[in-house]
Amino acid sequence: MKWWRDAVIYQIYPRSFADSDGDGIGDLPGIIGRLDHLAALGVDAVWLSPFYPSPQADAGYDVADYRSVDPLFGRLADADELIASAHARGLRVIVDLVPNHTSSQHVWFQEALAAAPGSRERDRYVFRDGRGDGPPNSWQSVFGGDAWTRLPDGQWYLHLFDAGQPDLNWDNPEVRAEFEDILRFWLDRGVDGFRVDVAHGLVKQADLADWHLPMMPLTGPGAEGAPRPPMWDQDGVHEIYRRWRKILDSYEGERILVAEAWVQPAERLAAYVRPDEMHQAFNFEYLEASWTPADQHSVISRSLAASAAVGAPTTWVLSNHDVVRHASRLGLPVGTPRPNGIAAGDPQPDAGLGLRRARAATLLMLALPGSAYLYQGEELGLPEHTTLPAEARQDPTWFRTDGASVGRDGCRVPIPWEADAPSYGFGPTDRSWLPQPAAFGELALDRQVGVPGSTYELYVAALRLRRAHALGHGELTWVPTPGEVLSFTNGDLLVLTNFGPVPAELPAGAEILLSSEPVAGREVPTDVTVWARLT
Ligand code: GLC
Repeated sequence: MKWWRDAVIYQIYPRSFADSDGDGIGDLPGIIGRLDHLAALGVDAVWLSPFYPSPQADAGYDVADYRSVDPLFGRLADADELIASAHARGLRVIVDLVPNHTSSQHVWFQEALAAAPGSRERDRYVFRDGRGDGPPNSWQSVFGGDAWTRLPDGQWYLHLFDAGQPDLNWDNPEVRAEFEDILRFWLDRGVDGFRVDVAHGLVKQADLADWHLPMMPLTGPGAEGAPRPPMWDQDGVHEIYRRWRKILDSYEGERILVAEAWVQPAERLAAYVRPDEMHQAFNFEYLEASWTPADQHSVISRSLAASAAVGAPTTWVLSNHDVVRHASRLGLPVGTPRPNGIAAGDPQPDAGLGLRRARAATLLMLALPGSAYLYQGEELGLPEHTTLPAEARQDPTWFRTDGASVGRDGCRVPIPWEADAPSYGFGPTDRSWLPQPAAFGELALDRQVGVPGSTYELYVAALRLRRAHALGHGELTWVPTPGEVLSFTNGDLLVLTNFGPVPAELPAGAEILLSSEPVAGREVPTDVTVWARLT
Protein backbone atom coordinates (compact mmCIF):
# COMPACT_ATOMS: atom_id res chain seq x y z
CA MET A 1 0.00 0.00 0.00
CA LYS A 2 1.49 3.31 -1.05
CA TRP A 3 0.34 5.03 2.14
CA TRP A 4 2.45 8.09 1.43
CA ARG A 5 0.63 9.13 -1.75
CA ASP A 6 -2.17 10.79 0.19
CA ALA A 7 -0.74 10.92 3.73
CA VAL A 8 -1.16 13.83 6.11
CA ILE A 9 2.21 14.15 7.82
CA TYR A 10 2.59 16.13 11.03
CA GLN A 11 5.92 17.79 11.77
CA ILE A 12 7.12 17.55 15.35
CA TYR A 13 9.84 19.98 16.37
CA PRO A 14 11.12 18.04 19.41
CA ARG A 15 12.55 21.04 21.29
CA SER A 16 9.11 22.63 21.42
CA PHE A 17 6.50 19.88 21.44
CA ALA A 18 6.35 18.53 24.99
CA ASP A 19 8.85 18.61 27.85
CA SER A 20 8.73 15.61 30.22
CA ASP A 21 11.56 16.55 32.60
CA GLY A 22 10.93 20.24 33.18
CA ASP A 23 14.22 21.56 31.79
CA GLY A 24 12.33 23.82 29.37
CA ILE A 25 13.28 21.83 26.27
CA GLY A 26 10.96 19.26 24.74
CA ASP A 27 12.07 15.63 24.59
CA LEU A 28 11.21 12.18 23.23
CA PRO A 29 9.37 10.95 26.36
CA GLY A 30 7.31 14.15 26.11
CA ILE A 31 6.37 13.26 22.55
CA ILE A 32 5.46 9.69 23.53
CA GLY A 33 3.14 11.12 26.20
CA ARG A 34 1.32 13.22 23.60
CA LEU A 35 0.94 10.69 20.77
CA ASP A 36 -2.74 10.27 21.61
CA HIS A 37 -3.27 13.89 20.58
CA LEU A 38 -1.93 13.09 17.12
CA ALA A 39 -4.00 9.93 16.81
CA ALA A 40 -7.12 11.90 17.81
CA LEU A 41 -6.26 14.67 15.37
CA GLY A 42 -6.30 12.08 12.62
CA VAL A 43 -2.90 12.41 10.93
CA ASP A 44 -1.18 9.47 9.24
CA ALA A 45 2.46 10.04 10.11
CA VAL A 46 4.86 12.21 12.05
CA TRP A 47 8.13 13.71 10.90
CA LEU A 48 10.56 14.53 13.70
CA SER A 49 13.12 17.29 13.32
CA PRO A 50 16.60 16.19 14.52
CA PHE A 51 17.05 14.72 18.01
CA TYR A 52 20.62 13.50 17.52
CA PRO A 53 23.64 14.47 19.66
CA SER A 54 24.44 18.04 18.72
CA PRO A 55 25.96 21.20 20.18
CA GLN A 56 22.68 22.83 19.03
CA ALA A 57 24.37 25.56 17.01
CA ASP A 58 21.39 25.31 14.66
CA ALA A 59 18.80 23.70 16.92
CA GLY A 60 19.99 20.17 16.13
CA TYR A 61 20.54 20.60 12.38
CA ASP A 62 24.22 20.39 13.32
CA VAL A 63 24.59 16.66 13.96
CA ALA A 64 27.60 15.33 15.88
CA ASP A 65 26.53 11.66 15.84
CA TYR A 66 23.93 10.32 13.42
CA ARG A 67 23.28 7.08 15.30
CA SER A 68 22.27 8.26 18.73
CA VAL A 69 19.99 10.60 20.70
CA ASP A 70 21.11 13.80 22.43
CA PRO A 71 20.72 13.51 26.23
CA LEU A 72 18.72 16.74 25.94
CA PHE A 73 16.00 14.71 24.19
CA GLY A 74 16.43 11.31 25.85
CA ARG A 75 18.15 8.05 24.96
CA LEU A 76 18.22 5.75 21.97
CA ALA A 77 15.78 3.49 23.85
CA ASP A 78 13.32 6.40 23.87
CA ALA A 79 13.56 6.65 20.08
CA ASP A 80 12.81 2.92 19.86
CA GLU A 81 9.86 3.33 22.21
CA LEU A 82 8.59 6.32 20.27
CA ILE A 83 8.67 4.36 17.01
CA ALA A 84 6.87 1.42 18.62
CA SER A 85 4.27 3.61 20.38
CA ALA A 86 3.54 5.53 17.19
CA HIS A 87 3.18 2.31 15.20
CA ALA A 88 0.83 0.93 17.85
CA ARG A 89 -1.43 3.92 17.13
CA GLY A 90 -1.23 3.50 13.37
CA LEU A 91 1.14 6.46 12.98
CA ARG A 92 4.23 6.18 10.75
CA VAL A 93 7.49 7.80 11.77
CA ILE A 94 9.80 9.82 9.53
CA VAL A 95 13.12 11.06 10.88
CA ASP A 96 15.28 13.94 9.70
CA LEU A 97 18.53 13.18 7.88
CA VAL A 98 21.09 15.98 7.58
CA PRO A 99 23.59 14.95 4.88
CA ASN A 100 24.79 18.32 3.54
CA HIS A 101 26.87 19.09 6.61
CA THR A 102 27.82 17.68 9.99
CA SER A 103 28.40 19.53 13.22
CA SER A 104 31.90 20.90 13.71
CA GLN A 105 31.91 18.63 16.78
CA HIS A 106 31.49 15.51 14.63
CA VAL A 107 34.47 13.19 15.02
CA TRP A 108 35.24 13.49 11.30
CA PHE A 109 35.56 17.25 11.49
CA GLN A 110 37.63 17.07 14.63
CA GLU A 111 39.95 14.67 12.79
CA ALA A 112 40.05 17.03 9.82
CA LEU A 113 41.08 19.93 12.05
CA ALA A 114 43.90 17.88 13.52
CA ALA A 115 45.08 16.63 10.11
CA ALA A 116 47.19 18.39 7.49
CA PRO A 117 45.96 20.12 4.32
CA GLY A 118 45.53 17.54 1.57
CA SER A 119 44.93 14.70 4.04
CA ARG A 120 42.27 12.01 3.75
CA GLU A 121 40.59 13.50 6.84
CA ARG A 122 40.21 16.92 5.20
CA ASP A 123 38.92 15.39 1.99
CA ARG A 124 35.65 14.43 3.73
CA TYR A 125 34.83 18.14 3.84
CA VAL A 126 35.36 21.08 1.50
CA PHE A 127 38.73 22.60 2.45
CA ARG A 128 40.45 25.05 0.10
CA ASP A 129 43.27 27.56 0.12
CA GLY A 130 42.16 31.18 0.02
CA ARG A 131 42.56 33.77 -2.71
CA GLY A 132 45.25 36.02 -1.36
CA ASP A 133 44.13 36.90 2.13
CA GLY A 134 40.47 36.31 1.34
CA PRO A 135 38.23 33.27 1.16
CA PRO A 136 38.35 30.84 -1.80
CA ASN A 137 35.24 32.34 -3.44
CA SER A 138 32.43 34.84 -2.94
CA TRP A 139 29.82 32.52 -1.47
CA GLN A 140 27.78 33.78 1.45
CA SER A 141 26.23 31.69 4.20
CA VAL A 142 22.45 31.27 4.03
CA PHE A 143 22.45 32.56 7.61
CA GLY A 144 24.52 35.64 6.66
CA GLY A 145 28.26 36.41 6.46
CA ASP A 146 30.95 34.49 4.58
CA ALA A 147 30.38 30.82 3.78
CA TRP A 148 34.03 30.14 4.63
CA THR A 149 35.94 30.03 7.91
CA ARG A 150 39.73 30.10 8.11
CA LEU A 151 41.85 27.75 10.21
CA PRO A 152 45.10 28.73 11.93
CA ASP A 153 47.06 26.83 9.23
CA GLY A 154 45.60 29.15 6.59
CA GLN A 155 43.11 26.78 4.90
CA TRP A 156 39.42 27.59 4.75
CA TYR A 157 36.41 25.28 5.12
CA LEU A 158 33.03 25.73 3.48
CA HIS A 159 29.80 26.07 5.45
CA LEU A 160 26.72 27.09 3.53
CA PHE A 161 25.02 27.54 6.91
CA ASP A 162 26.60 28.22 10.32
CA ALA A 163 30.37 27.94 10.92
CA GLY A 164 29.42 25.02 13.21
CA GLN A 165 27.99 23.17 10.16
CA PRO A 166 30.89 22.30 7.81
CA ASP A 167 29.73 21.03 4.39
CA LEU A 168 30.62 17.45 3.53
CA ASN A 169 32.40 16.54 0.31
CA TRP A 170 29.95 14.29 -1.54
CA ASP A 171 32.56 13.41 -4.20
CA ASN A 172 34.25 11.35 -1.50
CA PRO A 173 33.10 7.68 -1.56
CA GLU A 174 33.64 7.41 2.18
CA VAL A 175 30.97 10.07 2.74
CA ARG A 176 28.53 8.22 0.48
CA ALA A 177 29.15 4.90 2.22
CA GLU A 178 28.72 6.44 5.64
CA PHE A 179 25.28 7.85 4.86
CA GLU A 180 24.10 4.63 3.29
CA ASP A 181 25.02 2.96 6.54
CA ILE A 182 23.18 5.63 8.56
CA LEU A 183 20.05 4.99 6.47
CA ARG A 184 20.28 1.30 7.31
CA PHE A 185 20.80 2.03 11.00
CA TRP A 186 17.44 3.83 11.25
CA LEU A 187 15.62 1.56 8.80
CA ASP A 188 16.64 -1.39 10.96
CA ARG A 189 15.10 0.42 13.96
CA GLY A 190 11.80 0.60 12.10
CA VAL A 191 11.49 4.16 10.81
CA ASP A 192 9.16 4.65 7.86
CA GLY A 193 11.27 7.22 6.09
CA PHE A 194 13.58 10.20 6.03
CA ARG A 195 13.07 13.89 5.46
CA VAL A 196 16.29 14.85 3.68
CA ASP A 197 17.62 18.23 4.81
CA VAL A 198 18.96 20.59 2.11
CA ALA A 199 18.57 17.81 -0.46
CA HIS A 200 19.50 20.21 -3.28
CA GLY A 201 22.84 21.18 -1.75
CA LEU A 202 25.00 18.07 -1.43
CA VAL A 203 26.85 18.37 -4.73
CA LYS A 204 28.59 21.63 -5.63
CA GLN A 205 29.70 22.75 -9.07
CA ALA A 206 33.27 21.39 -9.35
CA ASP A 207 34.93 24.77 -9.92
CA LEU A 208 33.16 26.42 -6.95
CA ALA A 209 32.55 29.38 -9.24
CA ASP A 210 31.80 32.77 -7.70
CA TRP A 211 28.17 33.68 -7.16
CA HIS A 212 27.04 37.23 -6.59
CA LEU A 213 23.27 36.88 -6.32
CA PRO A 214 21.59 36.37 -2.94
CA MET A 215 21.75 32.92 -1.33
CA MET A 216 18.19 33.20 -0.04
CA PRO A 217 15.79 31.85 -0.95
CA LEU A 218 17.76 28.66 -1.38
CA THR A 219 17.04 28.40 -5.05
CA GLY A 220 17.89 29.68 -8.47
CA PRO A 221 16.05 32.64 -9.85
CA GLY A 222 13.45 30.20 -11.18
CA ALA A 223 12.98 31.85 -14.53
CA GLU A 224 13.68 29.70 -17.57
CA GLY A 225 17.25 29.96 -18.75
CA ALA A 226 18.42 31.80 -15.62
CA PRO A 227 21.80 30.67 -14.31
CA ARG A 228 21.71 27.96 -11.69
CA PRO A 229 23.62 28.79 -8.49
CA PRO A 230 26.81 26.69 -8.29
CA MET A 231 25.92 25.40 -4.82
CA TRP A 232 22.30 24.34 -5.39
CA ASP A 233 20.41 21.80 -7.48
CA GLN A 234 23.39 20.33 -9.34
CA ASP A 235 22.53 17.33 -11.50
CA GLY A 236 24.95 15.15 -9.52
CA VAL A 237 22.60 14.97 -6.51
CA HIS A 238 20.23 12.62 -8.30
CA GLU A 239 22.66 9.74 -8.46
CA ILE A 240 22.86 9.80 -4.64
CA TYR A 241 19.08 9.53 -4.26
CA ARG A 242 18.87 6.70 -6.78
CA ARG A 243 21.27 4.72 -4.57
CA TRP A 244 19.27 5.56 -1.46
CA ARG A 245 16.01 4.54 -3.11
CA LYS A 246 17.43 1.09 -3.79
CA ILE A 247 18.33 0.74 -0.13
CA LEU A 248 14.85 1.77 1.04
CA ASP A 249 13.21 -0.56 -1.48
CA SER A 250 15.22 -3.47 -0.08
CA TYR A 251 13.27 -3.09 3.20
CA GLU A 252 9.74 -4.34 3.73
CA GLY A 253 6.91 -1.85 3.95
CA GLU A 254 6.82 1.38 2.03
CA ARG A 255 9.69 3.45 3.44
CA ILE A 256 9.97 6.92 1.97
CA LEU A 257 12.38 9.74 1.17
CA VAL A 258 11.16 13.34 1.29
CA ALA A 259 13.25 16.09 -0.26
CA GLU A 260 13.68 19.45 1.39
CA ALA A 261 14.79 21.11 -1.81
CA TRP A 262 14.21 24.83 -2.29
CA VAL A 263 14.19 24.42 -6.04
CA GLN A 264 12.15 26.18 -8.69
CA PRO A 265 10.51 25.91 -11.13
CA ALA A 266 8.23 22.95 -10.32
CA GLU A 267 9.64 20.92 -13.22
CA ARG A 268 13.15 20.96 -11.71
CA LEU A 269 11.74 20.00 -8.34
CA ALA A 270 9.89 17.10 -9.99
CA ALA A 271 13.25 15.59 -10.99
CA TYR A 272 13.78 14.72 -7.30
CA VAL A 273 10.66 12.54 -7.30
CA ARG A 274 11.19 10.55 -10.48
CA PRO A 275 10.16 6.90 -10.02
CA ASP A 276 13.66 5.72 -9.00
CA GLU A 277 14.47 8.65 -6.68
CA MET A 278 12.63 10.17 -3.75
CA HIS A 279 8.93 9.71 -3.01
CA GLN A 280 8.01 13.29 -2.19
CA ALA A 281 9.42 16.81 -2.22
CA PHE A 282 8.11 19.74 -0.21
CA ASN A 283 6.18 22.17 -2.35
CA PHE A 284 7.65 25.49 -1.23
CA GLU A 285 6.32 27.29 -4.26
CA TYR A 286 2.85 26.59 -2.86
CA LEU A 287 3.89 27.82 0.59
CA GLU A 288 5.16 31.03 -0.98
CA ALA A 289 2.11 31.72 -3.17
CA SER A 290 0.21 34.85 -2.28
CA TRP A 291 -3.40 34.85 -1.09
CA THR A 292 -5.03 35.64 -4.43
CA PRO A 293 -7.15 33.31 -6.55
CA ALA A 294 -4.87 33.83 -9.56
CA ASP A 295 -1.68 32.85 -7.71
CA GLN A 296 -3.32 29.96 -5.91
CA HIS A 297 -4.84 28.67 -9.13
CA SER A 298 -1.59 28.83 -11.04
CA VAL A 299 0.62 27.27 -8.37
CA ILE A 300 -1.86 24.44 -7.75
CA SER A 301 -2.20 23.69 -11.48
CA ARG A 302 1.56 23.85 -12.07
CA SER A 303 2.32 21.64 -9.09
CA LEU A 304 -0.20 18.98 -10.08
CA ALA A 305 1.06 18.91 -13.67
CA ALA A 306 4.75 18.77 -12.74
CA SER A 307 4.35 15.88 -10.30
CA ALA A 308 1.92 14.00 -12.55
CA ALA A 309 4.54 14.13 -15.32
CA VAL A 310 6.83 11.94 -13.18
CA GLY A 311 4.07 9.89 -11.52
CA ALA A 312 4.68 11.34 -8.04
CA PRO A 313 2.06 12.67 -5.62
CA THR A 314 1.96 16.44 -5.22
CA THR A 315 2.62 17.70 -1.71
CA TRP A 316 1.23 20.75 0.05
CA VAL A 317 2.59 22.70 3.00
CA LEU A 318 1.80 26.04 4.62
CA SER A 319 4.04 26.12 7.71
CA ASN A 320 7.22 24.60 9.09
CA HIS A 321 10.04 25.42 11.52
CA ASP A 322 11.81 27.71 8.99
CA VAL A 323 9.03 30.09 7.98
CA VAL A 324 6.65 32.56 9.62
CA ARG A 325 3.57 30.61 10.73
CA HIS A 326 0.79 30.93 8.18
CA ALA A 327 -1.67 32.34 10.74
CA SER A 328 0.63 35.38 10.87
CA ARG A 329 2.06 35.37 7.34
CA LEU A 330 -1.43 35.65 5.87
CA GLY A 331 -2.16 38.55 8.21
CA LEU A 332 0.42 40.70 6.38
CA PRO A 333 -0.73 42.73 3.38
CA VAL A 334 -1.15 40.57 0.25
CA GLY A 335 2.01 40.72 -1.82
CA THR A 336 4.40 41.17 1.12
CA PRO A 337 7.50 39.11 0.26
CA ARG A 338 7.79 36.10 2.58
CA PRO A 339 9.56 37.48 5.67
CA ASN A 340 12.40 35.68 7.44
CA GLY A 341 10.90 36.18 10.89
CA ILE A 342 9.07 39.23 12.23
CA ALA A 343 10.56 41.57 14.83
CA ALA A 344 8.72 43.80 17.31
CA GLY A 345 9.76 46.86 15.26
CA ASP A 346 8.44 45.45 11.97
CA PRO A 347 4.91 46.03 10.66
CA GLN A 348 2.81 43.59 12.67
CA PRO A 349 0.42 41.08 11.11
CA ASP A 350 -3.32 41.52 11.61
CA ALA A 351 -3.92 38.54 13.93
CA GLY A 352 -7.66 38.19 13.30
CA LEU A 353 -7.34 38.43 9.54
CA GLY A 354 -4.32 36.10 9.57
CA LEU A 355 -6.15 33.38 11.48
CA ARG A 356 -9.27 33.71 9.32
CA ARG A 357 -7.20 33.34 6.14
CA ALA A 358 -5.08 30.58 7.65
CA ARG A 359 -8.20 28.53 8.38
CA ALA A 360 -9.47 29.12 4.85
CA ALA A 361 -6.05 28.26 3.38
CA THR A 362 -5.80 25.06 5.41
CA LEU A 363 -9.24 23.92 4.35
CA LEU A 364 -8.32 24.62 0.74
CA MET A 365 -5.04 22.71 1.13
CA LEU A 366 -6.58 19.66 2.79
CA ALA A 367 -9.03 19.29 -0.13
CA LEU A 368 -6.21 18.99 -2.68
CA PRO A 369 -5.16 15.60 -4.03
CA GLY A 370 -1.77 14.42 -2.82
CA SER A 371 -0.01 14.50 0.52
CA ALA A 372 -0.15 17.36 3.03
CA TYR A 373 2.26 18.49 5.73
CA LEU A 374 1.13 20.12 8.98
CA TYR A 375 3.45 21.86 11.43
CA GLN A 376 2.91 21.39 15.16
CA GLY A 377 0.62 24.01 16.63
CA GLU A 378 -1.06 25.05 13.42
CA GLU A 379 -4.01 22.88 14.48
CA LEU A 380 -4.38 25.35 17.36
CA GLY A 381 -4.16 28.36 15.05
CA LEU A 382 -0.93 29.47 16.73
CA PRO A 383 0.50 32.75 15.48
CA GLU A 384 4.18 33.60 15.08
CA HIS A 385 5.71 35.10 18.25
CA THR A 386 6.59 38.48 16.74
CA THR A 387 7.74 40.29 19.87
CA LEU A 388 10.41 37.94 21.22
CA PRO A 389 12.97 39.97 23.15
CA ALA A 390 16.43 40.13 21.56
CA GLU A 391 18.02 38.29 24.48
CA ALA A 392 15.73 35.29 23.92
CA ARG A 393 16.65 34.81 20.26
CA GLN A 394 18.70 31.74 19.37
CA ASP A 395 18.59 31.34 15.58
CA PRO A 396 22.12 31.59 14.12
CA THR A 397 20.65 33.92 11.48
CA TRP A 398 20.08 36.51 14.19
CA PHE A 399 23.71 36.36 15.32
CA ARG A 400 25.29 36.12 11.85
CA THR A 401 23.38 39.18 10.59
CA ASP A 402 23.85 41.24 13.78
CA GLY A 403 20.10 41.26 14.25
CA ALA A 404 19.32 42.59 10.77
CA SER A 405 17.38 39.39 10.10
CA VAL A 406 15.56 38.14 13.21
CA GLY A 407 15.33 34.57 11.96
CA ARG A 408 13.06 31.69 12.75
CA ASP A 409 12.62 31.57 16.52
CA GLY A 410 9.12 33.06 16.32
CA CYS A 411 7.65 29.90 14.76
CA ARG A 412 9.49 27.57 17.17
CA VAL A 413 7.91 28.61 20.47
CA PRO A 414 6.79 25.70 22.72
CA ILE A 415 3.23 24.44 22.29
CA PRO A 416 0.44 25.40 24.73
CA TRP A 417 -1.48 22.32 25.89
CA GLU A 418 -3.28 23.62 28.99
CA ALA A 419 -4.31 27.24 29.52
CA ASP A 420 -3.92 27.28 33.30
CA ALA A 421 -0.76 25.20 33.78
CA PRO A 422 2.85 26.40 34.09
CA SER A 423 4.40 26.86 30.59
CA TYR A 424 0.83 26.32 29.34
CA GLY A 425 1.32 22.60 29.92
CA PHE A 426 4.43 22.36 27.72
CA GLY A 427 6.24 20.81 30.70
CA PRO A 428 5.86 20.36 34.46
CA THR A 429 7.65 23.65 35.24
CA ASP A 430 7.34 27.21 33.96
CA ARG A 431 10.54 26.82 31.96
CA SER A 432 10.35 27.17 28.21
CA TRP A 433 13.47 27.61 26.05
CA LEU A 434 11.73 30.41 24.17
CA PRO A 435 9.20 32.53 26.08
CA GLN A 436 5.56 31.88 25.13
CA PRO A 437 3.39 34.90 24.28
CA ALA A 438 0.32 35.60 26.43
CA ALA A 439 -1.89 34.91 23.38
CA PHE A 440 -0.99 31.20 23.70
CA GLY A 441 -3.22 30.81 26.80
CA GLU A 442 -6.53 31.14 24.98
CA LEU A 443 -5.21 28.95 22.16
CA ALA A 444 -4.17 26.06 24.41
CA LEU A 445 -5.45 22.66 23.33
CA ASP A 446 -7.68 22.26 26.39
CA ARG A 447 -9.51 25.47 25.45
CA GLN A 448 -10.32 24.10 22.01
CA VAL A 449 -11.15 20.40 22.34
CA GLY A 450 -14.90 19.92 22.02
CA VAL A 451 -15.47 23.62 21.31
CA PRO A 452 -17.50 24.00 18.11
CA GLY A 453 -15.76 26.24 15.62
CA SER A 454 -12.35 26.06 17.30
CA THR A 455 -9.37 25.71 14.99
CA TYR A 456 -8.58 22.33 16.55
CA GLU A 457 -12.09 21.00 15.84
CA LEU A 458 -11.87 22.39 12.30
CA TYR A 459 -8.69 20.35 11.68
CA VAL A 460 -10.22 17.21 13.20
CA ALA A 461 -13.35 17.52 11.06
CA ALA A 462 -11.33 18.29 7.92
CA LEU A 463 -9.02 15.32 8.38
CA ARG A 464 -11.98 13.01 9.02
CA LEU A 465 -13.82 14.18 5.91
CA ARG A 466 -10.65 14.12 3.82
CA ARG A 467 -10.29 10.46 4.66
CA ALA A 468 -13.98 9.60 4.24
CA HIS A 469 -14.07 11.23 0.79
CA ALA A 470 -10.58 9.95 -0.19
CA LEU A 471 -9.64 13.50 -1.17
CA GLY A 472 -5.92 12.73 -1.13
CA HIS A 473 -6.50 10.12 -3.82
CA GLY A 474 -8.92 12.21 -5.81
CA GLU A 475 -8.73 14.34 -8.89
CA LEU A 476 -9.12 18.09 -9.07
CA THR A 477 -11.37 19.68 -11.68
CA TRP A 478 -11.56 23.46 -11.74
CA VAL A 479 -15.04 24.98 -11.75
CA PRO A 480 -15.01 28.37 -13.49
CA THR A 481 -16.59 30.80 -11.03
CA PRO A 482 -17.11 34.56 -11.33
CA GLY A 483 -15.45 37.01 -8.95
CA GLU A 484 -12.38 36.58 -6.78
CA VAL A 485 -13.23 32.97 -6.13
CA LEU A 486 -11.46 29.66 -6.54
CA SER A 487 -13.59 26.59 -6.96
CA PHE A 488 -12.99 22.96 -7.86
CA THR A 489 -14.44 19.54 -7.41
CA ASN A 490 -12.59 16.59 -5.94
CA GLY A 491 -14.69 13.43 -6.13
CA ASP A 492 -18.17 14.19 -4.77
CA LEU A 493 -17.01 17.34 -3.04
CA LEU A 494 -17.28 20.92 -4.25
CA VAL A 495 -14.63 23.20 -2.74
CA LEU A 496 -14.96 26.97 -2.88
CA THR A 497 -12.73 29.70 -1.45
CA ASN A 498 -13.82 33.30 -1.59
CA PHE A 499 -10.88 35.74 -1.64
CA GLY A 500 -12.92 38.79 -2.62
CA PRO A 501 -14.88 41.41 -0.68
CA VAL A 502 -18.27 40.36 -2.09
CA PRO A 503 -20.01 37.21 -0.83
CA ALA A 504 -19.79 34.29 -3.27
CA GLU A 505 -22.82 32.16 -3.92
CA LEU A 506 -22.79 28.37 -3.71
CA PRO A 507 -24.70 26.56 -6.45
CA ALA A 508 -28.27 25.56 -5.63
CA GLY A 509 -28.44 22.14 -4.02
CA ALA A 510 -24.96 22.39 -2.47
CA GLU A 511 -25.03 20.97 1.02
CA ILE A 512 -22.27 22.41 3.21
CA LEU A 513 -20.25 19.74 5.02
CA LEU A 514 -17.59 21.99 6.52
CA SER A 515 -16.59 25.63 6.35
CA SER A 516 -13.68 27.59 7.77
CA GLU A 517 -16.11 30.14 9.31
CA PRO A 518 -19.88 30.01 9.83
CA VAL A 519 -21.82 30.39 6.58
CA ALA A 520 -25.45 31.48 6.52
CA GLY A 521 -27.46 30.13 3.60
CA ARG A 522 -25.50 29.85 0.35
CA GLU A 523 -23.48 33.08 0.70
CA VAL A 524 -19.79 32.39 1.34
CA PRO A 525 -18.20 35.40 3.06
CA THR A 526 -14.75 36.87 2.40
CA ASP A 527 -11.72 34.69 3.20
CA VAL A 528 -13.75 31.57 3.77
CA THR A 529 -13.43 28.07 2.32
CA VAL A 530 -16.40 25.72 2.08
CA TRP A 531 -16.58 22.01 1.43
CA ALA A 532 -19.99 21.09 0.04
CA ARG A 533 -21.73 18.09 -1.44
CA LEU A 534 -23.75 18.51 -4.58
CA THR A 535 -27.16 16.93 -4.23
C1 GLC B 1 17.11 23.13 6.54
C2 GLC B 1 16.39 23.10 7.86
C3 GLC B 1 16.78 24.33 8.63
C4 GLC B 1 18.28 24.30 8.85
C5 GLC B 1 19.04 24.16 7.54
C6 GLC B 1 20.46 23.79 7.76
O1 GLC B 1 16.71 24.19 5.74
O2 GLC B 1 15.02 22.99 7.67
O3 GLC B 1 16.11 24.42 9.85
O4 GLC B 1 18.69 25.47 9.49
O5 GLC B 1 18.49 23.15 6.74
O6 GLC B 1 20.56 22.47 8.20
